Amino acid sequence: MRDQLEAVRGEALRAVADAADLQSLETARVHYLGRKGVLTNILRNVSEAPEEERPVLGKTANEIKKAVVSAIEERKQALEAKVLEDQAEQDRADLTLPGRRPSFGHKHPISQVIEEITDIFAGLGFRVATGPDIETEYYNFDSLNTPADHPARDLHDTFFVKPGVVLRTHTSPVQMRVMEQTAPPVAVIVPGRTFRVDADASHSPMFHQVEGLWVDKGVTFAELKGALMLFSHAFFGKDTEVRFRPHYFPFTEPSAEMDISCTVCKGQGCRVCKHLGWLEILGCGMVHPEVFKYANYDSETYTGFAFGMGVDRMAMLKHSIDSIHHLYENDVRFLEQF
Ligand code: PHE
Repeated sequence: MRDQLEAVRGEALRAVADAADLQSLETARVHYLGRKGVLTNILRNVSEAPEEERPVLGKTANEIKKAVVSAIEERKQALEAKVLEDQAEQDRADLTLPGRRPSFGHKHPISQVIEEITDIFAGLGFRVATGPDIETEYYNFDSLNTPADHPARDLHDTFFVKPGVVLRTHTSPVQMRVMEQTAPPVAVIVPGRTFRVDADASHSPMFHQVEGLWVDKGVTFAELKGALMLFSHAFFGKDTEVRFRPHYFPFTEPSAEMDISCTVCKGQGCRVCKHLGWLEILGCGMVHPEVFKYANYDSETYTGFAFGMGVDRMAMLKHSIDSIHHLYENDVRFLEQF
């Protein structure tokens, strides 16, 4: 029985050492130490051995059992550590792989152009003012020297919200709102949405304008020309030519439209400028004394100029966009180009 015990010891320890994974280790444990295990049986049978051998046998068998138990424990720890290691190796992140590039949004081309225009005038000392898109007829027309029976009202195809209330057809009503709130001098630049019943390749029922107003003692048409020329050079480039053509607006006198030399053909004549060499970009003039009356400004002491430019048109010119509607369809493939 002694020899048998020694053989079992060697066999069991080898089986434990050879167990390649936790499952085969458990199989070995059951085989030697389980309820019907080899060692368990031996220990159970110690009582049947000759009396004088029993103590030694019992002691040896217990020793072997202890050795096998601790060998199993050790092996188990090693195998568990290996499992964790394998897992870690599998989950390892390759830090040298290129990352996923986040896609950045950016400002809409219209917003970019509005910011650029207002920045240029801010540099000349104008502050930014705004007014409501839904406007009363009083601010949109009457106070701008355009009473209900005035033929110039027909120039604007107006969206009516209800009697007396319109979607503003231009940013000029903000001139009056600012003057009502501010004693002269004032210098404001007013970006905003405007609305007219109109739709083709170069007209959208909703479009954008930037209004400008400067009122002070001694402001003349020379200041108007100077400011707008400076603006044109800053926005379109130093070699841009400007010209003023006489025009009519009820709220300015004298009035003019300003053209710039065609940004595409430099004045030679092309499709964009309809072979004229010039592009109209804004309306302007000296503030009408009637308008000052509505604002409670003394037109004997103060003079001023105002202008209003079409932002959408300028964005189209700047980026060679052939239809205004591209600007409002929110097609990311289009917008991404700016
Ligand atoms: N409000 C005019 C327009 O829509 C432009 C303008 C503004 C003209 C200010 C003169 C002075 O078209």
